[in-house]
Amino acid sequence: MTLYDESDVATLSVNRGLETRLRAELEEMREGGVFKELLYLMGRQSAVVDIEGYGQTINLCSNNYLGLADNPDVMKAIKDGTDRYGAGTASVRFICGTFDIHRELESRIADFLELPASLTYTSAWNAAEGLFAPLLGPEDVIISDRLNHACIIDGMRLSRSQRKIYEHMDMDSLKEALEASRDARHRLVITDGVFSMEGEIAPLPEIRELCDRHDAIMAIDDSHATGVLGDTGRGTPEHFGMHGEIDIITSTLGKALGGMAGGFTASSRAVIDYLIQNSRTQLFTNAVPAHSACGALAAIDHLETHPELIARLRENTEHFRDNLIEMGYKPIPGGTPIVPVIIGETADAINLSKQLLDEGVFVIGFGYPVVPRGEARIRCQISAGHDREHLDTALAALRSVGSRLGII
Ligand SMILES: Cc1ncc(COP(=O)(O)O)c(C=O)c1O
Repeated sequence: MTLYDESDVATLSVNRGLETRLRAELEEMREGGVFKELLYLMGRQSAVVDIEGYGQTINLCSNNYLGLADNPDVMKAIKDGTDRYGAGTASVRFICGTFDIHRELESRIADFLELPASLTYTSAWNAAEGLFAPLLGPEDVIISDRLNHACIIDGMRLSRSQRKIYEHMDMDSLKEALEASRDARHRLVITDGVFSMEGEIAPLPEIRELCDRHDAIMAIDDSHATGVLGDTGRGTPEHFGMHGEIDIITSTLGKALGGMAGGFTASSRAVIDYLIQNSRTQLFTNAVPAHSACGALAAIDHLETHPELIARLRENTEHFRDNLIEMGYKPIPGGTPIVPVIIGETADAINLSKQLLDEGVFVIGFGYPVVPRGEARIRCQISAGHDREHLDTALAALRSVGSRLGII
């Protein structure tokens, strides 16, 4: 069965050549078992979600690490924020889209991360994409981990500076790249704090030391660590006892901190002021909705008054990971709530995830180009919002589907 009705190509209002090519490629994806089907949630993002066509399903694939996406205090702050500030900003930051709540949130984020200043964007994607081009030019070099997130890769592509890639978390390779670029005006080393597809924690102390030795700027994207790592959720720097020691941090409001839209860059006052002048992904697009800023502030409040959420997230992760290993799965080793299991071929990872869904467990399978070819995987993500019953039910499904498919 084909996806599209071939008879209507002749009457298309869009370009026929483009349509025909896209249809052929999509058919190929479908036949190869790698076509992504969107699933529709019918209610809140939570430990259990109501998926159209599947009903109540245990959710092991959201970034809702602290379970704050449906927290009553956070939702109330958003409702109150809507009453006060209305539906949206209707303007970019420098025209009339900056609200007092943006200033409050930015100062709070800076304090939270123990850096002098921060600037919010509508997403962490935009924060990363708008970071390099304003700060660095052709006489500079960006040095990036091979497995950095796509927003960093695209952000680098948008800048006119030179680029070097070092092998994943390989400090010899980073050292080589630093030495090979010693004539640059500035060198900026960028890494994910926690790698989103691997769950590994970047070796920040070693990177800091190399950056200091080579007078390089150190930047991290801490999207999967803010609100997650460190005893108080201040992220990868806190995990290593390096508060305030990273030159530039980008991160998101869309994961642990309530799951809303929004991201930010935190750094020195001069870097932030310079971004306000020149960073195109905030100069030419609307600001974070003010009600989301209210929600993010409430999420930070909640995190600061409930550090037990982080302890619970850790206990849940250990319980899940230990049981997964005990039943014969081999997740990528790591100490974060991202627990990926490499399956190999994309179609096999997608098939595993489909069968788990039929058993009431929502885990997404990822293949190329999201992860390298031949390293397709399912990525389980644990939340403080899960209780033991959720995790044990999910583990039972992983046991039965895994043994049926011969994975364990
Ligand atoms: C490492 C990393 N950085 C940035 C982002 C983008 O975050 P946002 O949804 O705020 O754009 C993601 C989201 O998947 C991510 O995993």
